[in-house]
Amino acid sequence: MKKLETAPYKGVRDFYPKDMTLLSYIFSNWKKVVESFGYEEYSASPLEPTELYAAKTGEEIVNEQTYTFKDRGDRSVTLRPEMTPTVARMVAHKENELPFPLRWYSVPNVFRYEKPQKGRLREHFQLNVDLFGVDNIEADVEVINVAYSILKKFGAKDSDFVIKINNRKILGALFDSLKISKEKAHKISKVIDKKEKISPAAFETAIEEYAKGKTETLISNLESNQVLIQTLGNDHGEIVKLMKLIEALDKEGIKNVSFTPTLMRGFDYYTGIVFEIFDTSEENSRSLFGGGRYNDLLDIFGKRKIPTIGFGMGDVTLKDFLETHDLLPNYKSNIIIHICVITEEARDYANSITKNLRENGIKVSIDISGKKISDQIKYADKKDIPFVICIGEDEVENKILKVKNIPTHEEKEVKEDDLVSFFRM
Ligand code: HAM
Repeated sequence: MKKLETAPYKGVRDFYPKDMTLLSYIFSNWKKVVESFGYEEYSASPLEPTELYAAKTGEEIVNEQTYTFKDRGDRSVTLRPEMTPTVARMVAHKENELPFPLRWYSVPNVFRYEKPQKGRLREHFQLNVDLFGVDNIEADVEVINVAYSILKKFGAKDSDFVIKINNRKILGALFDSLKISKEKAHKISKVIDKKEKISPAAFETAIEEYAKGKTETLISNLESNQVLIQTLGNDHGEIVKLMKLIEALDKEGIKNVSFTPTLMRGFDYYTGIVFEIFDTSEENSRSLFGGGRYNDLLDIFGKRKIPTIGFGMGDVTLKDFLETHDLLPNYKSNIIIHICVITEEARDYANSITKNLRENGIKVSIDISGKKISDQIKYADKKDIPFVICIGEDEVENKILKVKNIPTHEEKEVKEDDLVSFFRM
């Protein structure tokens, strides 16, 4: 018989308990920060009708990266590659009942058929933060501030990352000023989105295909903010708005911001501001996460426009960032005490001690292996449980327990009645 593979499916992860503690740490910091800004959690199924993504998610994801299958009723179903179309659908579904502005967040797993590599897997968890119903600088500042505050919460310094920011309308104005048609502008935007992944020569050739004779001017505008601002004029409405946003962020203490005209972000639904956070370390110089404003997405449901800005932050790129900057927490077991049982006669007493600790909210495990006492202690040590209490006949008789701190090797005698308060300290 062929033996089955024990490794997980390509590009997805198993989470053993130690991995889970790191994931829970990430989730808990995410939640603490977003909830402190007044965001509420929502959720949905990972299964969606395929057509949800056809209109606005973007060709690459839809045609090359989705997990799509037919269900038994011949309906085409897709495992969500991102959360934005789902949350837009949910908002559209109850548009009349919901009190705007909505501040919503979720932590879904999302699936993309990508070539697995550093920072890219086929399933990841993605914090989604979206603010629905407001189209002003205050909303933009708030959402970018949430993103910034999350990295700070994990212990990052301003110099560890940079927030690149752009407004797609600025590029639109540049295309208009160079008399490039809407259709060609769309194609050029796709090329610009790939700029960092191709050589400068290949970039130039690709641009030339759609901007015949205007390539040099276009590239010089894209490469220099000064040139771009000169072309459009520093009183151009979109430039003024972007500068105001950068100033407002500065007032909030967010100074590691850089206007980057080539920042596109792939999705077809972004209509204005886009932003992406990059790691500044040479070892991990890559995009960490990003988002933007999408004011028209609810159109696909035939509903009124609801202006929205949000972002998605993946656990994989965040973990790489924390690792690069030495910000990963040391592993700590969430079990505080392991009770070792020296003789079977002491088991009832050991059980009653365990029960009492548990009822008082202390996480405790008890030996059930019947192994020698030294092995029971070794087990606790291997599992990084900080305290052991060994219970034998002396303990049953005296009701005094020896609490051993494994990492420090300290031992303290504690009366049974004082045990709970000892661990609550
Ligand atoms: P996205 O840039 O495609 O945006 O994904 C957001 C983040 O999810 C990425 O920056 C990265 O951290 C993570 N991510 C994406 N794909 C992968 C992958 N294959 N493996 C590991 N991590 C990945 C969106 O999905 C937008 N829907 C975000 C958004 C929300 N915009 C507005 N609201």
